[in-house]
Amino acid sequence: MDKLTIEGGVALRGSVRISGSKNAALPILLASILLDSPARFENIADLRDIRTTTRLLGVLGRPAHFDDGVVTVETGPLAPEAPYELVKTMRASVLVLGPLLARLGEARVAMPGGCAIGARPVDLHLSALEKMGARFDLEDGYIIGRCGRLRGAHIHFDFPTVGGTENLLMAAALAEGETVLENAAREPEVTDLARFLIKCGARIEGHGTSDIRIRGVDSLSGCTYRVMPDRIEAGTFLAAAGITDGDLILQDCPLEELDAATAKLIQMGMRIESTPEGVRARREEPGSPLRAADVTTRPYPGFPTDMQAQIMAMLCLAEGSSVITETIFENRFMHVQELVRMGADVRLSGHTAMVRGVARLTGAPVMASDLRASASLVLAGLAARGVTQVQRIYHLDRGYEHIEKKLEALGARIRREAE
Ligand code: EPZ
Repeated sequence: MDKLTIEGGVALRGSVRISGSKNAALPILLASILLDSPARFENIADLRDIRTTTRLLGVLGRPAHFDDGVVTVETGPLAPEAPYELVKTMRASVLVLGPLLARLGEARVAMPGGCAIGARPVDLHLSALEKMGARFDLEDGYIIGRCGRLRGAHIHFDFPTVGGTENLLMAAALAEGETVLENAAREPEVTDLARFLIKCGARIEGHGTSDIRIRGVDSLSGCTYRVMPDRIEAGTFLAAAGITDGDLILQDCPLEELDAATAKLIQMGMRIESTPEGVRARREEPGSPLRAADVTTRPYPGFPTDMQAQIMAMLCLAEGSSVITETIFENRFMHVQELVRMGADVRLSGHTAMVRGVARLTGAPVMASDLRASASLVLAGLAARGVTQVQRIYHLDRGYEHIEKKLEALGARIRREAE
């Protein structure tokens, strides 16, 4: 396992290109299961989860090849099983359910199991697919799904589940008749999936709103599609500019999909503006302090849960006290104890973290637990006095493409080492 060694205290400067979105690429790549002809995907980041997805496609009969930001997926006879050894490393594998049922009428997907941030059930996916005619059994830790041709249905989600909306978009695209998704997720990655499916011939309206209407078609053809930039990687670099009192230009930054996060960063004392070179991020004035702010995570377009750990690292060094409320996941505060080891003053009470700003953080050996917690520890290490070692950074490699190279190019004293 690798670790990152960071010597903090450098104000980051320069420009960084934001990579393609992990959370858009995963469903879009898996949607190729629906296609009758090959597809080509561009702006694909080199991430562990992307490699896992291409392996999974191969296992399902869709040979996928990744090379220098491009993934090509061939067609071929489909197999119905997503094996445990792949699913246990990537929960998003559950997104093969909709496409396999739509194309094959059969799916065997290992129950993903929980992860560090929560139980992560898929009950909303299954109950919605049952309304379309699928039947599910649980055997030996596998979800076994069977159906004839899926039928369009009127579905209301109790919670605007991102994965559930994506699974149903893919299932409904080839179903018989019309499907309505009420209280659907509005995340930009869901919209990117819908745009891809439409380019393949699907008939979808209302994507990006809470009410999506899909009229099933008989077949979908491959195409070439460029995946959107990663708004969470972008948000993480905006936070890096703020926490180090740096001055960064982000190229390919999807600013319009980051409104809630940028509004909060500006409230905390940052300047974020579009320039011809890209999005420029810095503090109001060099050396001006960060201000405390209360943060509550919400489904899109609210403040993204995937930015909660990162903004907490900043608030640990802000002037004043902040209250952070995590409403999406039941256990997304794994970074707190590690930040406390660096001198942060954070107290947990259920879904709420009370953060009292301190003058400085001090470097320490810390343990990454999940993807965004790892990012939070890297941010804290960049601003801390002394050396921080972030261990188990395979978590980080799931969602950030060559992050130490990007940070080093911005002046950070950071290096990857074997643990
Ligand atoms: C997606 O996860 C993202 N992952 C997550 O990003 C992100 O945090 C999350 O959406 C929320 O924005 C990918 O896109 C691959 P949900 P997903 O279904 O689809 C509960 C990252 O860091 N729920 O909207 O799993 C669930 O337990 C990752 O990049 C049910 O109860 O999110 C959670 O509490 C982490 N039953 C909440 O809803 C269900 O059937 C949100 O889940 C489905 C979900």
